Formats: sequence, structure tokens, C-alpha cells
Amino acid sequence: MKHILPSQPGPIGVFDSGYGGLTILSKFKEILPQNDFIYLGDNARTPYGTRSFEIVYEFTLQAVTRLFELGCHLVILACNTASAKALRSIQINNLPQLDPNRRVLGVIRPTVECIGSITQSKHVGILATSGTIKSESYIMEVHKLFPEIKVTGQACPMWVPLVEYNEAQAPGADYFVKKYIDELLAKDNRIDTIILGCTHYPLLLPKIKQYVPESIHIVSQGELVANSLLDYLKRHPEMNERCTHGGTCTYFTTEAEEKFADSASAFLNEPIQVSHLDLND
Ligand code: DGL
Repeated sequence: MKHILPSQPGPIGVFDSGYGGLTILSKFKEILPQNDFIYLGDNARTPYGTRSFEIVYEFTLQAVTRLFELGCHLVILACNTASAKALRSIQINNLPQLDPNRRVLGVIRPTVECIGSITQSKHVGILATSGTIKSESYIMEVHKLFPEIKVTGQACPMWVPLVEYNEAQAPGADYFVKKYIDELLAKDNRIDTIILGCTHYPLLLPKIKQYVPESIHIVSQGELVANSLLDYLKRHPEMNERCTHGGTCTYFTTEAEEKFADSASAFLNEPIQVSHLDLND
């Protein structure tokens, strides 16, 4: 199917399977306050972390195409699972047909770039969804830049549901938060740096900090990804010109609007207006 895409400048698209990408968006808004953004959460089909490569690719491509149709020239996959399983395929297979001048960027590379200067022991742990861990994307990206670093992954399949169902601060969450951290550290006791390789996880940070020894550095992605976007726009003035700068943010969810507005407002500490969008049609 041929897509007709608007050619005039537009907002930057930010996509996640649910609420997690809001942790990235809030840093974008801090660091690029003049830019316009559209946030799209596929809350109706979350979580992506336990889904197959083919499904994550199909869902992510639907979201990216819709964000292009809504006027975005640049889309950030604010989701590690989509970055791990769909980003390269979209860049190689779909962008040339959709519009070779539009761009889709992910969150894994900017996260990995910083760890060489953080870890002293050269033993790094990754906490992420099952999909991201199985894809081995973090291991591959780390080894491209820092072949000397040993990377150990731990899947945390219960963490995204805790966030999506608003249970991240509930007492019951402690069991699963502790469990996956203990499992990671049991695999490699020399880890001195842990990457939160899922954009939902910063919402569990108060509990994660309780169970990670103080000597271990916890890396969450928001600020790193936001600085990397700022840098990208400086290096690509032609893309910056295709981004509008009115300081607005528009929200879309594939789930019920009220449910998203309630939860997202709590994460962002401000009331928001949200519209429903169907990615299947
Ligand atoms: N927030 C996402 C990530 O960074 C995905 C979570 C999910 O849908 O499983 O991986």
C-alpha cells in the first residue's frame, strides 16, 4: 500500500508499547523544550517484551507509519524491545519505500555509548524484557564499542506488567524487583554497572535502588537518549528544519483515553489530553 505522507515540517514522534516511553519523553521535553512531540503508546497490545520478532516488527512498523502520516519526519522508538527487534528491519526494509528522508532512531545505541566511561570492573549487567535479552542486541552493541566489557543479561518479565497496571509502588512489587536483581548479581558478582534496558523500569527505580548494592551504578536511559537526540539534531540541521518548534506535546493511545490520561498524568506530574488511535485499520 502506498502511503501519502505530509511534506511540511512536523513534531518528533515518540513511540513505546505503553507508558514506559514517557520516561524518555519527559527528558526530551526538558532538554528540547521548544520542540513539538507526538507520543504514541500501544497500551492495548502491551507488553511487547514477550512477543515474537515478527509481531514486534509488525506492530512497530504500524506505529511508525502512523506517526509519519501524522506529520513526523523523525520517530524515536522509546522502547528497547522495539529498538532491538524492529529498528534495523524498518530502517533497511521499509524506510526506502515509505520515505528515504525520514528517520527512525532507537534507544540502545545511545545508552551503550556511555557505559565505557562508567564501569571500572568492566562487568556490566542489563535488566530488560525477555525479548530484548533474547535478541542479544545489548551484547552486540556493547562489543562493537567496548569488546573488553563482559555483559550479563537478566530478563524481568514481571516488571512491565507492574508498571502498566500501576502496581510499581505497591508492596507486592518488592518480591519481583528483588528476585531479578538477585538473579543478575548471582550470575556475575563483579558487576559494577547495571543498565535499565527497558523504558518502563525507571518507574520502578525507588524499589530497584532498595535491592541494588550502593556500590553499583544504575544507568537509566532518559537523559542519555535526550542528550543524544539533541546532538543528532545539531549534527543534522536538515532534519531540525523539518521539526516544528511550538513547545507542544500531543498524546495518542491505542487503549481507552481516560485510563491513559490518568496513568500518564501521574507519571508526568501534569494533566494531559489524550486521543484514541487504532493501529489495526
Ligand atoms: N518499554 C519497553 C522497552 O523498553 C517495552 C516493554 C514491553 O512492552 O514489554 O523494552
